[in-house]
Amino acid sequence: DKEEDLSVRPPVVTIMGHVDHGKTTLLDSIRNTKVTASEAGGITQHIGAYQIEDKGKKITFLDTPGHAAFTTMRARGAQVTDITILVVAADDGVMPQTVEAINHAKAAEVPIIVAVNKMDKEAANPDRVMQELTEHALIPEDWGGDTIFVNVSAIKGEGIDDLIEMIQLVAEVEELKANPNRSAQGTVIEAQLDKGRGSVATLLVQNGTLNIGDPIVVGNTFGRVRAMVNDLGRRVKVAGPSTPVEITGLNDVPQAGDQFMVFTDEKKARQIGEARSKKQMEAQRKESSKLNLE
Ligand code: GTP
Ligand code: NA
Ligand code: MG
Repeated sequence: DKEEDLSVRPPVVTIMGHVDHGKTTLLDSIRNTKVTASEAGGITQHIGAYQIEDKGKKITFLDTPGHAAFTTMRARGAQVTDITILVVAADDGVMPQTVEAINHAKAAEVPIIVAVNKMDKEAANPDRVMQELTEHALIPEDWGGDTIFVNVSAIKGEGIDDLIEMIQLVAEVEELKANPNRSAQGTVIEAQLDKGRGSVATLLVQNGTLNIGDPIVVGNTFGRVRAMVNDLGRRVKVAGPSTPVEITGLNDVPQAGDQFMVFTDEKKARQIGEARSKKQMEAQRKESSKLNLE
């Protein structure tokens, strides 16, 4: 039986929109509504991504600025986003970066849910937002289109439950699946050099399950997964599909958007990692000599 053992995986959601329209506030608000009372207050986010659970179903939110997630990742051939939340401030309407965000999401063929934010403001005008977005082919369901609009106030936490429900709905339609029983692969969300721990990389597992001790190639770096920390800063031993996790154990610092892959033996991982970094160094040499000639 060669059929892959696919199961439903959580959606990976990024938030985009014009500057100051409330992306960060909305991410905070979503996280706060779903944190249990015992965790509230004590909760600090450890990595640039988090998961919530709603009615037994998880959703992964990437905390990278939506534009960076799209441009850097896509430039490197990675696609991490399943659903984009387009945040538009109800008192400001469609602005240049709103249009940019729409174009990114459309190019990547990622479904858009519009969150009309700052509904608590006196100058809020959601009808105007709908009207303006219609000009960019985002037509609300009420007007015969198929774009979901949700009115929210990120600051007051209003409409957040509706928004989460809509995310779950779109995720269901998308039929997002992965095989948790294979070796892991996915994408680097961010990475840096830590004084004490060395190379630290936040990975999004997109398929398979990542385990402590796995031999791994990450972009042009390689190693063995030494330790894993989840979004709450807790040590974990496994990370399944759509899970963001911070790992140590790489020989160097990979780049956001790099792909990673687990190998069955460490020797193979090392060979591939070394071959890749050699190739990259050659490419860089060529690039710099080309620049020198110009
Ligand atoms: P950048 O990351 O700088 O592009 O901004 P952002 O989109 O993340 O916006 P941010 O969350 O920083 O919010 C910008 C300002 O709008 C802050 O002063 C927030 O307090 C305010 N704000 C965000 N959401 C709401 C809301 O629902 N209602 C009101 N009244 N203000 C809000
Ligand atoms: Na801001
Ligand atoms: Mg922000």
